[in-house]
Amino acid sequence: MNELRGLILSGGKGTRLRPITHTSAKQLVPVANKPVLFYGIEAMASAGIRQIGIIIAPETGDEIREVAGDGSQFGVEITYIPQAEPLGLAHAVLTAEPFLGDHPFVMYLGDNLLQGGIEDLVSAFRANEPDALILLTQVDDPENYGVAELDGDNTVTRLVEKPKEPATDLALVGVYMFTPGIHDAARAIEPSPRGELEITDAIQHLVDTGQRVEPHVVRGWWKDTGRLDDMLEANRLILDALEPRIDGDLVDSTVEGRVIVEEGATLIRATVRGPAVIGAGARLTDCYIGPYTAIDADVEIQNAEIEHSILLAGSSVRNLDGRMESSLLGRNVRIHPAPRQPRAFRFMVGDNSEIGIL
Ligand code: TTP
Repeated sequence: MNELRGLILSGGKGTRLRPITHTSAKQLVPVANKPVLFYGIEAMASAGIRQIGIIIAPETGDEIREVAGDGSQFGVEITYIPQAEPLGLAHAVLTAEPFLGDHPFVMYLGDNLLQGGIEDLVSAFRANEPDALILLTQVDDPENYGVAELDGDNTVTRLVEKPKEPATDLALVGVYMFTPGIHDAARAIEPSPRGELEITDAIQHLVDTGQRVEPHVVRGWWKDTGRLDDMLEANRLILDALEPRIDGDLVDSTVEGRVIVEEGATLIRATVRGPAVIGAGARLTDCYIGPYTAIDADVEIQNAEIEHSILLAGSSVRNLDGRMESSLLGRNVRIHPAPRQPRAFRFMVGDNSEIGIL
């Protein structure tokens, strides 16, 4: 087999994660203080893939280039592939054709997380040599996903995007393996009613032309972090497996359970109940940090309680009367009581923000 390459889709609009995606790529939102995108790159690197192409959008491409760089920090070589418009996952494959050439490849959606990596799948792909290999997982709400139907021989017979009456509960996971035949399939299909070249249609075309599409049901968890609740859930799952480590300074503070406190973080009269991660340069004073919280670099928390939340770098929360939970704060967000009388709520909030009050 020709050398296996990697393709990570990191373009798109990210409308479901606004307002965070007004100013930043959703693939760079940190899960347990690491950009979602990095988990995909690392999974590929561990599976022995050296050449990775990353699809980027005009609005967020530069930021992604800056953060992921040439790939040397992961031991891989990254080629950036601009996609002028997000015209679908199969359109992204066609956009990457000059990079992929005759190589078989693993395609990974840049906002997805798959527990346990892809090494087993790459081995199965190499050993069984199907024309494509797709990953499936059982879900409670298949009508929200691409859904696969299989025959008795464990071969894929049909793929339907968001079916009203799903025939199975097997949803398509955002990691796929393809041989170069996928390019012709992507060229053969028409845009869907939502105007996108769908990867499900391209895979269906492989099935219809007699090619072998092998399904694998994933054993661990899989998360698409496209919405806030999924992002928090992914954060929870990753933090659950954290190796505790305290490198920062603790002054009259208590840390319980799986907790990382990065070097340069300072905790003064703080209680942290893990799983949680506290980033470098964070300053926590007179506060309680509860389970499943990721606090990024240089965040300041004073006299507040926070649980099950993600706080991006440079944010601050002060003198909060009540516990903050299940929240995502972007970079440099400031939350504090309004400074004047009468006691009143006072907001300065960007487009598409959401604020839940008592
Ligand atoms: P989606 O989450 O399906 O699309 P999106 O990013 O536009 O988000 P939303 O629905 O909230 O507007 O995309 C999955 C991944 O693939 C994501 O990392 C973005 C990427 N992508 C591309 O790179 N090119 C594309 O044409 C599309 C549709 C998505």
